[in-house]
Amino acid sequence: MFTSSIFERAPIGMFDSGVGGLTVLRQVYQQLPNESVIYFGDTARLPYGIRSPAEILQFVREILNWMQQQQVKMVIMACNTSSALALDIVREEFKMPILGIILPGARAAVSCGKRIGVIATPATAKSNAYRRAIMEIDPHVQVWQISCPEFVPLVEQNRIDDPYTIEVARSYLEPLLEQDIDTLVYGCTHYPHLAPVLRSLLPSSVKLVDPAVHIVKACAHELDLQGVKNTHLPLPTRFAVSGCPQHFAQSSVQWLGYTPMVEVVHLNELGVRS
Ligand code: DGL
Repeated sequence: MFTSSIFERAPIGMFDSGVGGLTVLRQVYQQLPNESVIYFGDTARLPYGIRSPAEILQFVREILNWMQQQQVKMVIMACNTSSALALDIVREEFKMPILGIILPGARAAVSCGKRIGVIATPATAKSNAYRRAIMEIDPHVQVWQISCPEFVPLVEQNRIDDPYTIEVARSYLEPLLEQDIDTLVYGCTHYPHLAPVLRSLLPSSVKLVDPAVHIVKACAHELDLQGVKNTHLPLPTRFAVSGCPQHFAQSSVQWLGYTPMVEVVHLNELGVRS
C-alpha cells in the first residue's frame, strides 16, 4: 500500500500523439514546478486527428495501461482528439484520475466571448465535443468549429515559418473571420506552436484561448483535492515515444529549451485491455 508521501512523489503521466502536448508540459513547468512528469508521444501513429474513433480509443487504452504500469498518480490527456473521443470511456476503465482538456478549454472560452471559433483536428471537429461542452455551459453563445487537417503535419515537420503554413492558416481562419468571432480556441495542443502565425492573421480584438493553461489549473486543483501535490523536488521529466527518439528530441528542443533524453516504448507489445 502506498503512503500518501509516495503518492505525492509519484509522477503525473501526460500524453499526446507528438510534440503538441509539450504546450501542456510547459504549463506544468510554470504552474506545478514540483511535479515529476512522464511524457509519452505516440509519434509512430500520428496524426491522431485522421484516425477513426475505434483506433483512437485503442491507442489511448494502450497508453493508459503503460501509464498505470509506471505508477503515475494522475494522467493529463494533453491531446484534444483523445479527450474528445476516448475520455468518457476510459475514465470508467482505469482507477487513476484522468483529466481531459476539452472541458477546461470550453469553460475558459465561455468566459472570454460570445462568438467562439474552434480550430481542431478533423476527428475533434467531427465529434462536436467543443460545441457540446460550450453549449452546455452557456447555450447563448455561438460556436463555429473548423477542421484543420494540415496543421499537425506542418508542426511535426517543423514548418512553422514556411510561407505555405501562413497560406493554409489563412484559409482555415477565413470562415471564422467572416463570422466575426471574438474568441478563438486552440482545439488541438499542437496549435499554440503556431501562435505567431495565427496571431498575425487575426484582428487584435480576437482573444486566443489556450486550453493547456486551464487543464493544468484543473490538475493543480485536483492534486490539492486529493492531497497529493508534490512538496519535494521533482525528478527530471521522463520522455518516451513510440517512433524515432532522435527526431522527437530534435523537434522538442525549441519548445523545451533543452534537449530531452528520449526512450522508445513499443506499446502494442504490452497487450491491450479489451
Ligand atoms: N495534439 C493532439 C490534439 O490535441 C493530436 C493531434 C493529432 O495527432 O492529430 O488533438
